[in-house]
Amino acid sequence: MHSRPRPEPQYGLGCNLALWVAVTVTACGTSNPGAGSSAPDGGDASFAADADAGSPPAQADATLTADADAGFPPVQADASATDGDASLPASDGSEPPDAGPDSAANDSAANDSAANDSAANDSAANDSAANDSAANDAAPLSASPPLGERVLGQELFDSNWRFNRGDVTGGEQPALDDSLWRSLDLPHDFSIELPYDETSLAGSGGAYLDGGIAWYRKTFSLPATFNAQTGEVRVRFDGVYMNSDAYINGHSLGNHPYGYTSFEYDLTPYLNASGTPNILAVRVNNQQPSSRWYSGSGIYRHVWLISSGQVHTKTWSTFITTPTVTTSSATVNVATSILNDGASDQTVTVTTTIVDDTGVQVATQSSTQAVTASGSTAFSLTHTLSTPKLWSVSTPTLYQVQLDVAVGGTVVDSYTSPFGIRTFAFDANAGFSLNGQSMKLHGVADHHDLGSLGAAINERAIQRQLQILKAMGGNAIRTAHNPPAPELLALADQVGVLIMDEAFDCWETGKVANDYHLYFDEWGQRDIQSMVDRDRNHPSVILWSIGNEIPDATGPNGLTLAQKLIGWVRSEDSTRPITQALLDMNEPGPQAIAAVLDVVGYNYNPYLYDAQHAQNPQWKMFGSEVSSAIRSRGVYETGNLQCSSYDDDVVSWGNSAESSWTTDRDRAYLAGEFIWSGFDYLGEPTPYPWPAKNSYFGIVDTSGFPKDIYYMYQSQWTQTPMVHLLPHWTWDAGETIQVFAYSNADSVELFLNGSSLGSQSMPTTGTTVHVAWSVPFEPGTLQAIATKGGVQVATDQVQTAGDAAAIALSADRSVIAADTSDLAFIEADVVDANGVLVPTAANEIQFSVQGPAKIIAVDNGDSTNQEPYQAQQRAAFSGKVLAIVKPTGSGSFVVSAISVASDGGAGLASNAVTVVAQ
Ligand code: GAL
Repeated sequence: MHSRPRPEPQYGLGCNLALWVAVTVTACGTSNPGAGSSAPDGGDASFAADADAGSPPAQADATLTADADAGFPPVQADASATDGDASLPASDGSEPPDAGPDSAANDSAANDSAANDSAANDSAANDSAANDSAANDAAPLSASPPLGERVLGQELFDSNWRFNRGDVTGGEQPALDDSLWRSLDLPHDFSIELPYDETSLAGSGGAYLDGGIAWYRKTFSLPATFNAQTGEVRVRFDGVYMNSDAYINGHSLGNHPYGYTSFEYDLTPYLNASGTPNILAVRVNNQQPSSRWYSGSGIYRHVWLISSGQVHTKTWSTFITTPTVTTSSATVNVATSILNDGASDQTVTVTTTIVDDTGVQVATQSSTQAVTASGSTAFSLTHTLSTPKLWSVSTPTLYQVQLDVAVGGTVVDSYTSPFGIRTFAFDANAGFSLNGQSMKLHGVADHHDLGSLGAAINERAIQRQLQILKAMGGNAIRTAHNPPAPELLALADQVGVLIMDEAFDCWETGKVANDYHLYFDEWGQRDIQSMVDRDRNHPSVILWSIGNEIPDATGPNGLTLAQKLIGWVRSEDSTRPITQALLDMNEPGPQAIAAVLDVVGYNYNPYLYDAQHAQNPQWKMFGSEVSSAIRSRGVYETGNLQCSSYDDDVVSWGNSAESSWTTDRDRAYLAGEFIWSGFDYLGEPTPYPWPAKNSYFGIVDTSGFPKDIYYMYQSQWTQTPMVHLLPHWTWDAGETIQVFAYSNADSVELFLNGSSLGSQSMPTTGTTVHVAWSVPFEPGTLQAIATKGGVQVATDQVQTAGDAAAIALSADRSVIAADTSDLAFIEADVVDANGVLVPTAANEIQFSVQGPAKIIAVDNGDSTNQEPYQAQQRAAFSGKVLAIVKPTGSGSFVVSAISVASDGGAGLASNAVTVVAQ
């Protein structure tokens, strides 16, 4: 019996979401009647000293195929089109405030305020400054070092695939004529291209977007130099949703059910000699409902072709750890397994070199051993580094491992990976610490979709999400409820975000008809171990989660299954703690599991925290999922399929944002919290039924536009002075408006058209963190002035808007890379004649591009909007629209936006913005 009244439909088809009428905030102080618990385990590893690798591409050797995909491109500094701040956003609020120059740099828009009254404040204020948040600013990433770990001979295999939606008899046969199939480049999500369908088997959870069967085929030739007697070719899929069957030249390579784990096949035995084309064919079958959220369908992550000799590193066998770390020195161990697929024994030398963040080689080791024919040998090399530069969320310093495999003096394979040197610990009384410094996990739980791009991964879109999160003061993400794209982890390593890497949403008992329970017994061990093996070199990863709200947890096998999973994970990585996102913590089943976990994750039910902490003083506790408050950007009243932004709408099992945060803030023993959810995601449009199709839980909408609650978190999690006012200031005469201010200053004084409405101290204790005024509406300017120590440090203002008159257009960056991984995010705001955002504007905005780029998606963040994302136009929602533009070559391009009045009148003054792709 679940302690949280969750309507049955949540886990099944035919869900009547109308039942889920939002309720007002519930306090979390309810007494806990049933908190009896079993004895906790004592296992108290400190998990210090783990070193990890991120992943840099090696010298991808381009021997095979003509695939021209490049890696992730350099992203350039910001430019004029936006609000000006060109630096990596904001501080991570959880570490001591930055002092010095960096902090200045980091004070991006969203925070800045006072002084120059920048972006976020304007935006808050008159919301005109498009693309304001620091979040969107510039680019901390560059092509070098490239993303992720790489081996020699690894190249992207994304371009020039053929696609057919629907089943095809003999789809794997080389002779099949696929010339009429659609030609496309991966990553590709075919569900996001479909119309919403109220009767779709995906249901509301899957955003009413169909899945089904589809085929992908790619034709490629081997270079003349390829010799099948001495060489090998493998194909790696980072993720295919789902139930894929892969074939090479008509031969079956295998079936891979789980849509969220990576896998690899050896193509060598079936390859044609050079000159004869090879056909790689993949059938996917997303039989819905298969996830409780929007999964997407198809080959939605990257595909890699890897060519090597017969002696090479075993995929995902390399494990970089830092067994000891002090400020004066660190040891770095690199363990790997070398395979010899040839017919004769070999003497193999493995050489490892550690390179620091400035490119200097700081240590090297080598080891020579025999590797027998058709066998493998484990190597382990330990290095000592002096005065290591530690990885943290505020200074995510990455080192690199370069590992060369040589036979007879010739390098036959190489592996490179970024890694970080850091320690961390969970403590039952003191919570979480990184490098010995106490900090809270200011986390969000996010699904994998990228809004209007669907599930198809894109590096820049992920990077932008991380930047938006960091600008809020967030420092952690829980990958709900599945292993993420590897690029998310590589970017988290670079940007400085901690990761709770989660394997499953169910084990033996499913939540929806075609859930993972169909595969768990056969695949559970392989899938969770492949997640750990693939992801364990990322310094960002601090927790392995064996599951979310697992139904078996309350059943008779729960504990046994949990122990099995823990064993599977531990055998691959004993350096990180294992957790589970537990519901029903007032029941014996989940409590018994909690007792064998390293860290205990609570989903909801914060009223249990104190009693269970008292009863189980050795449990290391955190909020693995909290809040589930709902809101719509720029909307201040619940109704008409929208939710209020006053933090007063929350599902029956949830808590307001302020309540969840203050509960965590006031409990030192809690390691932190993961808020449901960081971004709105496709599917689960709680509390509304069709036509609503995406969630309302996000702190940020699907377009990446922050909702007001974003600034509540920013006020609590960052130190750069800021103040944010809500709501907008365009109302009818005679209305009395509740005005809220969020600020990290001491006090805020409110002025209406220059007259003071009083100053209030920002609360630092209790369950409220905002200040409020009840203000009879009068047109003009409402201004907040925030002071600290009596000195004005930040301001914000909202102004009454007149009629919509023009489009204000801005790009997130004025220079991007001419690469398929990069994108320009163009924001269009509907403004009045004075440039003030019209907060209720719903004008249709039409985009066009001139130059080497194309619009790949539009969005406005409205959960109910069913216009197709792949369009050139969209109606504004609360005054804003987003266009996502992809470069198709290098050079500058101009994005224009127009809006024609429906009655044939003048419409809005158009606008254009120039971006350079280079
Ligand atoms: C949680 C669940 C999430 C999501 C959320 C909505 O219980 O873990 O996946 O459904 O509820 O509030």
